[in-house]
Amino acid sequence: MKITVNGSNGRMGCEVVKMLLDEVRGCTLAAAVDVNAPEAANYPTFSSLENVNVDSDCIIDFSHHSATLAVVNYAVSSGLPAVIATTGQTDEELEYIKAASKSVPIFFSANMSLGVALLAELAKLTAKTMKGADIEIIETHHNRKLDAPSGTALLLADEIKQVRENANYVYGRHGQAKREQNEIGIHAVRMGNIVGIHEIRVGTDSQTITLKHEAHSRALFAEGAIAAAEFLQDKPEGLYNMKDMVNS
Ligand SMILES: NC(=O)c1ccc[n+]([C@@H]2O[C@H](COP(=O)([O-])OP(=O)(O)OC[C@H]3O[C@@H](n4cnc5c(N)ncnc54)[C@H](O)[C@@H]3O)[C@@H](O)[C@H]2O)c1
Repeated sequence: MKITVNGSNGRMGCEVVKMLLDEVRGCTLAAAVDVNAPEAANYPTFSSLENVNVDSDCIIDFSHHSATLAVVNYAVSSGLPAVIATTGQTDEELEYIKAASKSVPIFFSANMSLGVALLAELAKLTAKTMKGADIEIIETHHNRKLDAPSGTALLLADEIKQVRENANYVYGRHGQAKREQNEIGIHAVRMGNIVGIHEIRVGTDSQTITLKHEAHSRALFAEGAIAAAEFLQDKPEGLYNMKDMVNS
């Protein structure tokens, strides 16, 4: 299948383009799109989705959340499935994605890693089993990351909330306030060139369980996004995520 990559000049976009040029999983590059117009290359490049004039079977977006409307409009108007891997969307942008998924298949996940999908399942099981335990999520990323906490930390918290309905998120604890039992603490650390570490601590007075996932290279997200594009190929309109792919 032929794939268009939006945000193709970025760290993640470059990984996806490289894999498609190498025909990973038999997929190829249809077009590379980035606001910072890609330099001349031996494949089609565009500075805006509006200008894309080549056929493709799917679009993968690793750009900026402000591009969400353009990506979704492009997918709907071209009848193309979309893999939205970009994070940090506003509530309005999230609503836009949901609405568009009524017309085309959209895969949306803050973390394209299979390992993180598994971590989320384990976190949910642990939170459900250790009733009343305190839960804190700590994420660490490179010092260039714009959004905090990471979309993955929020995804993990949302998974846990499914078994802790009264959970209240507390971001970056500070000041004078005792921890309430229904809190999920969410903390962001920014340093160096770290690809992504997510740790969930579940603790009672007598014991603590620590679940940790560490991404060693950005390639795992690019690989996951290409697998998601393949997964969407025969799917009807709808909103899909890693859980759907893991359980398919
Ligand atoms: N879902 C996942 O597994 C996962 C993994 C890693 C990163 N991400 C997310 O992917 C996004 C990109 O990450 P990155 O590290 O590659 O960032 P980056 O800053 O290196 O790259 C972003 C690229 O998008 C381009 N861009 C910005 N606005 C655009 C627009 N409107 N249209 C087209 N291109 C546009 C920029 O010019 C840049 O080249 C971020 O939101 C990040 O959080 C998601």
